[in-house]
Amino acid sequence: MKIAHFSRWGFLMAAAGSAVGLGNIWKFPYITGEYGGGAFVLVYLLTVVLVGFSVMIAEMLIGYLGRRDGVGAFEDLAPRHKERWKYAGFMGLSGTLVMFYYSVVIGWIFYYITLSFGTLPATIPEAEGIYNNLMTQGVGTQIFFHTLAFMITTAVLIRGIKGGIEKFNLVLMPSLIMIIAGMLVYAMGMESFPKAVSYMFNPDWSKLTSEAFAVAVGHAFFTLSLGMGAIMIYSASLPKDSNLVRASIFVIVTDTLIALAAGLVLFTFLFQYGAEPAKGPGLVFISLPAVFHAMGLVGNVLAVLFFMALAFAGLTSAVSLVEPMVQYLIDRWDMSRTKAAIAMGTFFYLFGIVAIFSLSAETSAYLTWGGKSFFDWSDYLTSNVFLPFAGLVMAVFVGHIIEKERVASVLQKDMGWFYPIWRFSVRFIAPVALFVVMLNLMGFIEF
Ligand code: TRP
Repeated sequence: MKIAHFSRWGFLMAAAGSAVGLGNIWKFPYITGEYGGGAFVLVYLLTVVLVGFSVMIAEMLIGYLGRRDGVGAFEDLAPRHKERWKYAGFMGLSGTLVMFYYSVVIGWIFYYITLSFGTLPATIPEAEGIYNNLMTQGVGTQIFFHTLAFMITTAVLIRGIKGGIEKFNLVLMPSLIMIIAGMLVYAMGMESFPKAVSYMFNPDWSKLTSEAFAVAVGHAFFTLSLGMGAIMIYSASLPKDSNLVRASIFVIVTDTLIALAAGLVLFTFLFQYGAEPAKGPGLVFISLPAVFHAMGLVGNVLAVLFFMALAFAGLTSAVSLVEPMVQYLIDRWDMSRTKAAIAMGTFFYLFGIVAIFSLSAETSAYLTWGGKSFFDWSDYLTSNVFLPFAGLVMAVFVGHIIEKERVASVLQKDMGWFYPIWRFSVRFIAPVALFVVMLNLMGFIEF
């Protein structure tokens, strides 16, 4: 097989790099703000522990046992009906569809890094003007920075598992962790820090609507990168005799700590300077720049660091979103890595441009269906339909299809008494939870 091996740290950083993404620093704080704080955070944390953890191990296991591209892994591991299970593998390739909008957002972040070197907007309306202008008029600017995101991602993918993905993550992830940790320490010294803590951790159950509940559960899966074959394809490159349980715990703890730290930093800053926590997707692009302005020169430094950390988080996830497809083309279509990376890069690059046009004032009408732009559809379908569905199939596959002995041979020793609990969760709890969440997110049922 043409699979290379990670070093132990290389794998941990790459898997954590996949999980820690725009979801942690951009999305988590704004949805926490939108859905009212504490209770939302608690549901998210519970889902991560109760369901996310067992599905993470299941996805790692498929990759680790399969040792090849996602489609091949399902084929090899299914005891019967191999040609049917192959299609389960194809679902794991949907990560590239996430890139239609993900790469565009990384582009915005690059643009905000350049802004942070100059004068930041002094007021929220001014910041709003810059943001809206970028969305509706700034097609050229967006394409420029989206191109940059495409070039970096593709260059890393061309260099492969060891020389590209591992090295990239070994540099970017520690830098990102240091920046966020440093900002957390800085925020802790501010008067509003306790207020941010209580906002995030004091549950006000009256704010937990059924929608908030579903979004919290859905986000727990999104932020762990589950159901898109990313964790699976990285696990195919795990060194032999790896402890999947410990690796999962590492990824989950890192991912959760970064999300919580980012939330605390943002809310402290926002409260300190009297900005609104419930600002929606514009939170880090509108409220935050105005807050950085109010801080003076320190604010510029913090702004550059913050947007750099955000870009690092996005890029390390981006690479893992496309790698499953790249490995598939290498294994199945006999392509060289260079060709496969360029082909898939170009694919998401072109659709990313469509996503940019779908937001622009002149063209959005042609690229909007059912009230959602192409950009929104790419987010909606991947997060609310493909991701929970693929997660469900993976849990069922590991829990009910792969031979029991094969699963046990890898996990039983490392898990001990926890093994039956995990097995029960993967067989019954996770599939039911994912099914209910999927129906709810798609609007078929309400809680
Ligand atoms: N976890 C990433 C984030 O928080 C986003 C993401 C979702 C992802 N699914 C993925 C990244 C699959 C890589 C692979 O931003």
